[in-house]
Amino acid sequence: MLLLHPILEPALSLLQDGLDLVHCTSDQAQDPAQVADLAEGCQGIVSLITDRVDAALLATPGLRVVANVGVGFDNIDLVAATHFGVLITNTPGVLDETTADFAFALMLSAARRLVAADRMLREGDFMGWQLDLMLGVDVHGSTLGVVGLGRIGRALARRARGFGMRILYNSRTPAPDAVESELGARAVGLDELLGESDFVSLHVPLTTQTRHLIGERELGLMRPTSVLINTSRGPVVDERALARALSRGTIFAAGLDVYEHEPEVDLELRRMPNAVLAPHIASASIATRSAMSELAARNLLQALAGERPAHLVNAQVWR
Ligand code: DGY
Repeated sequence: MLLLHPILEPALSLLQDGLDLVHCTSDQAQDPAQVADLAEGCQGIVSLITDRVDAALLATPGLRVVANVGVGFDNIDLVAATHFGVLITNTPGVLDETTADFAFALMLSAARRLVAADRMLREGDFMGWQLDLMLGVDVHGSTLGVVGLGRIGRALARRARGFGMRILYNSRTPAPDAVESELGARAVGLDELLGESDFVSLHVPLTTQTRHLIGERELGLMRPTSVLINTSRGPVVDERALARALSRGTIFAAGLDVYEHEPEVDLELRRMPNAVLAPHIASASIATRSAMSELAARNLLQALAGERPAHLVNAQVWR
């Protein structure tokens, strides 16, 4: 099997035990032709969310499974995978709490201007306590709008409850009553959520329906005191429109972990002091990244053993 990047223990030992491993160097992993050469004769591939797994690679004769390390799988041509009968797996569940921690950290830092304040102090500009120094907006007691109330959205909402926040949500399918009452969450339309929330946090997968879900019009519905958080996928937000909203002050701040054209980040956005920008690390705790690696390895081993993998994305392939 082909390992496109190093993964964390115990996953590596699990795979080494009984499988022939082909390792890509980081240069090879960047080059689709070299990846295709290395994949020849492999039945399984472990990929990361940054790897483009396209039809050409999925057509590799004998390939049976691609195990993606990540819950998102928009890097994989799912239609082609299904067409060629290749099982695609992902790693849901193990990263929910860690990602929700990080989304909450972005909320707090964007609202209280923590990164800008840290920078100001390091640059020697702290002249002593002032009544109006680095004024932010409150998180406690405010309204959180969760777009996509899946596992991560719910984990964020549970944290927000501890801060006395009111929870609104927008979701394709309404959450079960028990979840709504546990979270005290109310389902609303997206426009209402944007207009009513002090914090809007995005937790939807990237699909053709969610690309630029938040654009100029939607940002225009938000309040000048509100904060946008994105830990889902960059293209869910129109990055240019967001940079404009931040520079015009039509929203207060943004906390972002993901970008439209990673690893590039819009220059205007990078210039905005009211944007907290993280390099796609919301799930990056040691325990969680190890658990994600392990889950991907187990999915792959199950598929190669002829068992249905626990986290199969294209179930149509399984018969
Ligand atoms: C995922 O799993 O899809 C995240 O973006 C990386 O943790």
